[in-house]
Amino acid sequence: MLLSPESARRLPDPTEPGPGGLADVPPDWPAVWEALLAVRHGRPTTALAFQPDTGWRLAQPVDARCQALFDLYRPLLDARSRAHETPWVVAQMGQSLDGFVATATGDSYYVNGAHSLVHLHRLRALCDAVLVGAGTVAIDNPQLTTRRVSGPHPVRVLLDPEARLDGQARALHDGQAPTLWVCDARHAESARARWRSAAAPGAAATAEVVPVPGLLGDGGACELPRALQALAARGLRVLFVEGGGVTVSRFFAAGLLQRLHLSVAPVLVGEGRRGLRVPPHAVMADCPRPPARMVVLGDDVLWDLDLAAGAAGG
Ligand SMILES: NC(=O)c1ccc[n+]([C@@H]2O[C@H](COP(=O)([O-])OP(=O)(O)OC[C@H]3O[C@@H](n4cnc5c(N)ncnc54)[C@H](OP(=O)(O)O)[C@@H]3O)[C@@H](O)[C@H]2O)c1
Repeated sequence: MLLSPESARRLPDPTEPGPGGLADVPPDWPAVWEALLAVRHGRPTTALAFQPDTGWRLAQPVDARCQALFDLYRPLLDARSRAHETPWVVAQMGQSLDGFVATATGDSYYVNGAHSLVHLHRLRALCDAVLVGAGTVAIDNPQLTTRRVSGPHPVRVLLDPEARLDGQARALHDGQAPTLWVCDARHAESARARWRSAAAPGAAATAEVVPVPGLLGDGGACELPRALQALAARGLRVLFVEGGGVTVSRFFAAGLLQRLHLSVAPVLVGEGRRGLRVPPHAVMADCPRPPARMVVLGDDVLWDLDLAAGAAGG
């Protein structure tokens, strides 16, 4: 049995939206967040300094907690400010201690606590686009907006190579931000027809079906680089893959992730939907052990993995 988000029992969610997120942020954080958003928008800021070889840094010392948060988001700024031929991709998964991102019924509201949810919305605000797999759209019907923080909504990308979605997803109709329904070119016309028939008469179109030739490879595998090329052609280069586990694992296996955030919550699910699955190794020394940093987010522990620096090595 699958639970829809509407029928799932909700855990308390104490998050209040505000500048930069929760009320208990460090004193320096609102100003640093505004500076991060300035870089996101290409506006000048005196709070940060940029050097081509070392990237962005804070112009003035801040408290340690604030510095840790800045270091967490700095790679997204650096990616934006350096010339990139190819897209730069960060993924994040919120998971239980035993490695699940949802229960077996698909319920994931909420794996993580409020601080992690604010972090999720910060990632959305700092990226050009947020991308989710069709399974997440079908089960969660997410808004993919930045309502928990100040900052722009990203373009919303629904990755659905076979165009199996029914065209009724909230993101395709709510008009809160542009939405791209990305599918193989062979399935684009039927996706368009479904989307049109689900749209309210006279509704302004903020969504678009994006046909990608060759997105489905010969064996039916999703050719993710083709999807990224299609997004880059629209100026979407700093990308956030938000799930679910199948989609993040496919990006990981294809070597397309520069950064991976795993937000581990102190909850045990027992059996459910797996998060990241990586190709197995027989010998521990061969297992990828990328450079990692840890940031405490409320009750959760976020692991920030630098895959660009060390994904290959054990
Ligand atoms: N905790 C978190 O951070 C987090 C984040 C996002 C999502 N989630 C949870 O992750 C779960 C979904 O993730 P996922 O890994 O299963 O999938 P996903 O990565 O979101 O999407 C890809 C998978 O969805 C399948 N799919 C395609 N069309 C579908 C449809 N219309 N209905 C259902 N599935 C379809 C695809 O199958 P084919 O490859 O065969 O086409 C593929 O296996 C949900 O329970 C969601 O709540 C958790």
